[in-house]
Amino acid sequence: MEITKTLGEFIIEKQAEYPDATGELSSIFASIRLAAKVVHREINKAGLADITGAAGNENVQGEQQQKLDVIANDKFKAALSARGVVCGLASEEEDTYVHFEDGLCKNGKYVVLMDPLDGSSNIDVNVSVGTIFSVYRRLSPIGEPVTEEDFLQPGRAQVAAGYVIYGSSTMLVYSTGNGVHGFTYDPSLGIFCLSHPDMQFPSDGKIYSVNEGNYVHFHDGVKQYIKYCQVEDKKTNRPYTSRYIGSLVSDFHRNLLKGGIFLYPASTQYPTGKLRLLYECNPMAFLAEQAGGCAIAGVSERILDIKPTELHQRVPFFVGSENMVDKLERFLREFS
Ligand code: AHG
Ligand code: MN
Ligand code: MN
Ligand code: MN
Repeated sequence: MEITKTLGEFIIEKQAEYPDATGELSSIFASIRLAAKVVHREINKAGLADITGAAGNENVQGEQQQKLDVIANDKFKAALSARGVVCGLASEEEDTYVHFEDGLCKNGKYVVLMDPLDGSSNIDVNVSVGTIFSVYRRLSPIGEPVTEEDFLQPGRAQVAAGYVIYGSSTMLVYSTGNGVHGFTYDPSLGIFCLSHPDMQFPSDGKIYSVNEGNYVHFHDGVKQYIKYCQVEDKKTNRPYTSRYIGSLVSDFHRNLLKGGIFLYPASTQYPTGKLRLLYECNPMAFLAEQAGGCAIAGVSERILDIKPTELHQRVPFFVGSENMVDKLERFLREFS
């Protein structure tokens, strides 16, 4: 692949389009880029460095924390608190939000929410995982400690969001509200290079992603939609293909490139859904809408319009190609 533009150059170029931007967002991306390279390195040697498997404690989600969950969380937290631009962090792996105390960060204008390692159950079996991040302007006065309100903003207020996918290649995909752009990491040069400018969700697709093991517990509308995907109908390209990796970032990324829909509905085990609104659904919904796709929690319930009430709240999540999400929504409405 010929080297086109690095992530840093692209951000500066885009920066020029916002005269009032002070380069702080670029600094946040520089932190994320650095931490992503470090986590890429850790993941790629995990089997040799005894950093696979459980860390031996439970996180606030009630999940068995994996060693790499903790390592990724610490790397991103260290990188984000080192440049004095971010004043606070919320993370899947932190019980509550973290205020970056030191002098420099006190005047930071932004807060970051993140899922440091998404799909961590895949680590030990060498299947792709990701990191998800979401950036907001703080609401509380600069110089004061951050408040929970800084983190409980609706997804529509995000100034940036993105993910890193540690797959057959490592990519960083982000949006600052001006389209979605993908960068592929070249480990031999240590740089992310623009490889997927202006990524767009195909309006339709032939892939549906859902953990069908939970089928019996799904809402009738979801069951009917899954049946619809499976029925033979040449005119509408059905039956669709079922693809489920078990890492939101990976399932989302494949559907973004090929067209498709991802579903994580409510179930008896997760009565309000499993995925976390603040650092999984909101950033992915921001990217989806920026790429011409759609993300809902239910009938007429856009993910980005939900007013969060707590840091780790869970919501049902349906995201992907616009026509497929619309079709699902019709089934939810008809069988409500
Ligand atoms: P995490 O590893 O950050 O806790 O997230 C796992 C999530 C998401 O990545 C994936 O889509 C979903 O869990 C898979 O859940 P099931 O194993 O229940 O299908
Ligand atoms: Mn987890
Ligand atoms: Mn996750
Ligand atoms: Mn995680």
